[in-house]
Amino acid sequence: MTSGSEKVKILGIETSCDETAAAVVENGNRILSTIISSQVDLHARFGGVVPEIASRQHLLLINDLIDQALDEANLKFGDLQAIAVSHGPGLVGALLIGVATAKALAYALKLPLIAVNHLQAHLYANYLSGAPALYPAVILVVSGGHTELLLVKNPDDAISLGSTRDDAAGEVFDKVARVMALGYPGGPLIDQLAASGNPAAIDFPRARLDNDSRYDFSFSGLKTAVINHLYHARRRGEEPDKADLAASFQEALVEVLVEKTVSAAHHYQAKMVLLAGGVAANSRLRSALKDRLNRQLPATILHYPPLALCTDNAAMIAAAAYPHYLKGNFAALDLNAHPGLGSGLSS
Ligand code: KG4
Ligand code: ZN
Repeated sequence: MTSGSEKVKILGIETSCDETAAAVVENGNRILSTIISSQVDLHARFGGVVPEIASRQHLLLINDLIDQALDEANLKFGDLQAIAVSHGPGLVGALLIGVATAKALAYALKLPLIAVNHLQAHLYANYLSGAPALYPAVILVVSGGHTELLLVKNPDDAISLGSTRDDAAGEVFDKVARVMALGYPGGPLIDQLAASGNPAAIDFPRARLDNDSRYDFSFSGLKTAVINHLYHARRRGEEPDKADLAASFQEALVEVLVEKTVSAAHHYQAKMVLLAGGVAANSRLRSALKDRLNRQLPATILHYPPLALCTDNAAMIAAAAYPHYLKGNFAALDLNAHPGLGSGLSS
C-alpha cells in the first residue's frame, strides 16, 4: 500500500466487449500510457459484436497490448503496484480473457489484483479528465448496455434515480443504424450523418413516462417508430433522406436524455452534471445538454470526458482501481467474470 509520497502505478486491462485495451495510470489521475485496439472492422460485416470473435481477438492481442502499454510508459512489470481488470458487466467470454490475464499477472508478479466495475470506470473517466469533486452531482450513464440516471450526494452515497425499462441508449443507436444499413457501431455513424440533416424533419415520439417514473427511460417506442417509418416509406417505393432520418431520431432520443437529466439536476440542486459511457461521445447530447444547462441552471457545472475516454478504454479501469488500492480492497485469485453486474453505483 501507499505512503503519502509513493507514486502508485496501476496496470488496467479492459476486454468487456469489442475493444482490447491496456493502460498504466499513476495515482488514479495521470495517464502514463493507454493502448486500445478496436475490433470494429472484424464485427462490422455481421452488423454487431460476435461474442466468440471478440473473445478470440482479445486472446490474440492482450499480451502484446500490455507490453505496448508498459513500453509507452517506459516501465517494466517490476515498476507496477497493482493489476486492475474490468470484471463486468460485459460479454462473459470477452471478460474472461481480461480476468484470466490479470490473475496470471498478479500471481506471477505477486501484486494485488483489483476488480473494477466497468460502469463505475466510465464515471472515473470524468475524474481522470479533470472533473471537480462537487456534490450533489447528477450523472447520466449512457452506454451500449446501460442507461441510468444517478444522484451522487457525496462520494459514498449515490442513489439510482431511474434507468431504462427496455433498450439502452447505445443499443438503440446501433439498432437504428442497422435498419438504416449504415454499419456498426451505429452511434458515431448516426452522429456524423445527423450533422447534415434536419432534426425537425420527422416528429418521432418522446417517451416521457408518468410522474412516478419521471427519471426512467423507454426507447423501444422510438426504435419501433423509426423502423415503421422506414418500412412504410420503402413500401411506397421511397427511400427517406438518411440525414434527416438520423437527425430526427437522434433529436428525439437526446431530447429525453437532456430533459430528464436537467430536471433531476434542478430538483436535487446539483452543483455538477456528468456524462459517462460511449453515448457521452454524442455531439448533439453534449451540445444540447450544455445549452439547456446554460439557460436553465447556469451555475451548474457540466463535465464530460474527451472522446477517447468516453468509449471503452483501460485508462478508466486503472483510474477506478486507485481508490480500491488505497482502501486495500483487493480481489482473490478465484475472481470470476460477472457479465450481468449492475452499476453498483447506488446504495
Ligand atoms: O461504453 P461503450 O464504449 O461500450 C459499452 O460499455 O457498452 O459504449 C458503446 C456504445 C455503442 O452503442 C455506440 O454506438 C455508442 O456507445 N456510441 C455513440 C457514439 N459513440 C459511441 N452513440 C451516439 N453517438 C456517438 N458519437
Ligand atoms: Zn463501456
